[in-house]
Amino acid sequence: MKVAVFSARAYDREFLAQANGAAASPHDLRFFEARLDRDSATLAAGYEAVCAFVNDDLDRAALERLAAGGTRLIALRSAGFNHVDLAAARELGLAVARVPAYSPDAVAEHTVALILALNRRIYKAYNRVREGNFALEGLLGFDLKGRTVGIVGVGQIGLCVARIMRGFGCAVVASDPHPVAELEEIGGRYVTLAELFATASIISLHCPLTPDTHHLINADAIAAMVPGVMLVNTSRGAVVDTRALINGLKSGKIGHLALDVYEEEGDLFFEDLSATMIQDDVFARLLTFPNVLITGHQAFFTREAMTAIAGTTIANITAFERTGAPEHPVPFG
Ligand code: NAI
Repeated sequence: MKVAVFSARAYDREFLAQANGAAASPHDLRFFEARLDRDSATLAAGYEAVCAFVNDDLDRAALERLAAGGTRLIALRSAGFNHVDLAAARELGLAVARVPAYSPDAVAEHTVALILALNRRIYKAYNRVREGNFALEGLLGFDLKGRTVGIVGVGQIGLCVARIMRGFGCAVVASDPHPVAELEEIGGRYVTLAELFATASIISLHCPLTPDTHHLINADAIAAMVPGVMLVNTSRGAVVDTRALINGLKSGKIGHLALDVYEEEGDLFFEDLSATMIQDDVFARLLTFPNVLITGHQAFFTREAMTAIAGTTIANITAFERTGAPEHPVPFG
């Protein structure tokens, strides 16, 4: 099958080419560095499948252009599918596939790396020591043992974070409309979101971005949190209202903030912008706080996860070619 792969970086080529080479009947992959949107969609004319990543914008106009160009399958290299207009895809007869599970451990471990680095100010200590500054002022952390961690969204990743934090001796409270027994089996407890906000010293977000979770963390939610709370978001940027975060940081209500995702990350992340001026003033303001740690949507980025993403993506395309349906279709709801 002819496949147009968008937002393709060197590492995407490497892992996809490897998985494709191992397939019984390899596909014809063409890599485009461009992000997929309504303008670049014309590049995919003549390609039956399009392979897209998290910051590609598959709105109605983009999907219409893809369908007009002969595309029949959108194979997402992600679990999340909030960047696809599913109603439009269904109307246009486009199948949409995703990678439902590749390595929840990769994302969970990065989340915990952020918690540890932020608490113990590892990012500051690294620079200080390299400059010969061994002073400890400003590096004071707290013991994780005995603290309460609030997990919003106990799916594959949230459960993994809960397990790791239980290993540190933390209490775990969680909020999810679909409770699972595993959380209670490891000593976690489901509570209302209000109770989670009122009790957790660390809050970690692991729910998908949906109309229900859009700006779930807003000014009211922050006001209900424990003073000095540590907030960690590795889910999707728009689950939090960034301006409300900035106010929470300025007032001291938020004591520590770690982000791997950002509402407007599409214009920033995955690119080397070190020689340019950042135009996003909200993002630039976030970078000025000494208690904020940001990574550029890298939580998934391990060898194991990339191998699994590439393998499932090629399997989705192969299944579609053989049967007309991908192995892991996105639920049209
Ligand atoms: P999952 O589907 O296994 O779990 C999501 C959980 O969130 C489910 O249990 C669901 O019931 C719950 N949920 C839905 N609405 C909720 C609400 N209003 N409040 C609380 N919980 C709610 O998904 P998984 O694999 O654990 O991934 C979670 C999210 O992490 C993805 O949707 C994606 O946005 C993000 N992600 C981020 C990555 C990164 O590199 N930063 C990589 C992979 C995923």
